[in-house]
Amino acid sequence: MSDACDLPAARERLRRFLAPDCTDRLFVQPTGHPARDTGFCYCDGSLPGTLRVWIRGALLTTVLMLPCNGLKLRVLRWCGARIGRDVYLSEGVWIDPVFPHLLTIEDEVLIGFGARIFFHEFRRDEFRAGRVILRSGSFVGGLAVLGCGVEIGRNATVSAAAVVGKDVPEGHVAIGNPARILHGSSKDIDSATVAD
Ligand SMILES: CC(C)(COP(=O)(O)OP(=O)(O)OC[C@H]1O[C@@H](n2cnc3c(N)ncnc32)[C@H](O)[C@@H]1OP(=O)(O)O)[C@@H](O)C(=O)NCCC(=O)NCCS
Repeated sequence: MSDACDLPAARERLRRFLAPDCTDRLFVQPTGHPARDTGFCYCDGSLPGTLRVWIRGALLTTVLMLPCNGLKLRVLRWCGARIGRDVYLSEGVWIDPVFPHLLTIEDEVLIGFGARIFFHEFRRDEFRAGRVILRSGSFVGGLAVLGCGVEIGRNATVSAAAVVGKDVPEGHVAIGNPARILHGSSKDIDSATVAD
């Protein structure tokens, strides 16, 4: 159990953050070390609730492995994600099955093979949950990782295998781990971390 917070109050704050009408991007809660029980694992709730998350997660993860884009989008919408038109998910994209409704993908977005999108993370001393937004026209390269709470701007590109922990501004290209921005022409690399 967490030794760094009032757990019932923190869980109530998380419940409000997860509500569909909440627009906050990030939820951050100090906790004890996650090797011990923090009270924020999905299996800390009731058994029916835990089973629901587990079954939904198994279905989502399985469908995402298949080469049928329309079915993937339908399952994601059924999980509560907001998905625009002309969205394409390549094979093997992994979408965090714990809070999939925190995902928004606008129109004309492609996510490359094996990319991973996270909506929650445990750190050494805190728990985070975050909404991920892919704006219209954005492009995520294969094997990229999007951390919880990031926004990929309109017409922005995330390179193959980039690890993105901060927003990528509209029209920019982010490369590397941790991701940094190529300004304008992709030949002109800025050494600043993404959206610093
Ligand atoms: C990011 C990307 C679009 C850039 O393409 P580009 O405009 O042709 O840029 P270049 O290849 O000229 O590279 C520009 C610079 O970025 C670097 N770079 C490009 N891709 C990179 C990557 N994935 N990781 C790290 N650095 C990268 C290059 O090394 C180069 O640096 P340099 O100028 O110091 O040599 C492209 O490399 C990429 O990652 N495409 C994604 C493809 C993909 O995964 N598609 C999905 C298929 S399902």
